[in-house]
Amino acid sequence: MALVNMTEMLEKAEKGNYAVGSFSVLNMEMILGTVKAAEELKAPIILQIAEGRLGYAPLALMAPMMLSAARAASVPVAVHLDHGLRVPTIQYALDLGFTSVMFDGSKVTLQENIETTQKIIQLARKYGASAEAEIGKVGGSEDGSEDLELMATPVEDAKRFYEETKVDALAVAIGNAHGVYKSAPQLQFDRLAKLDEVVGTALVLHGGSGITVEDFRKCIDLGIRKINVMTAALNRIADETKILAKEKPGFNYFDYTQCAVNAVYQNTKEHILAFRSENRA
Ligand code: 13P
Repeated sequence: MALVNMTEMLEKAEKGNYAVGSFSVLNMEMILGTVKAAEELKAPIILQIAEGRLGYAPLALMAPMMLSAARAASVPVAVHLDHGLRVPTIQYALDLGFTSVMFDGSKVTLQENIETTQKIIQLARKYGASAEAEIGKVGGSEDGSEDLELMATPVEDAKRFYEETKVDALAVAIGNAHGVYKSAPQLQFDRLAKLDEVVGTALVLHGGSGITVEDFRKCIDLGIRKINVMTAALNRIADETKILAKEKPGFNYFDYTQCAVNAVYQNTKEHILAFRSENRA
């Protein structure tokens, strides 16, 4: 099992009509909780960290932990750089052994996005790694620093982008947003169906926190093969810690770390079941 290539994992998800959860991790406790849930449910997973988070959780420290956890796991685990913004960061993640990298070109022109993605794919190939890109703009921003207006992915742009890059996985904007949804998300399923027709690779849904199980399943039936989740895990840790503080006011550090591991474990399990990826290892 252990450390695997993301493309192979997503190809299996395509055949089995499920999605692989791509869970953001920011420390050891989050890694432990995520892997424990995946092992218990026999699910393939992706452990990811975004460039915007590296100020809190440096890649030089996170990478060895993520990779060791993947190698020791009894289920397939890919290790992914989420929302790579700068080529040197992407290169560094590949040097450290990440099995896939994302280039986030949502803020540049389509032409620039295509050209940089082509370069990133060439770079990733040298390491036997996979590449993900993004077309359109998923709302919010991964690190919560901006309230980016959502720009739904134009189908024609996605077609051109796929034909010119043949990227391994493509994140699309269909009404999804990072962070907490201000109102219930209205996902554009018609757009997703058209995107799936013209893009011959795995489609990725960012902003997984706050989407209903029913909507996840509809997205999966329309071609989503990778779903990113972070905010739900962070909120679950905060909520469970508040309960711990109330129930055990004198709690110690280890009570807290166990509480964090358990919160992430519960959240990951719920998402794996929603994505129909249990028993697929
Ligand atoms: P959420 O924080 O909304 O779950 O989004 C995570 C994500 O898409 C990371 O790329």
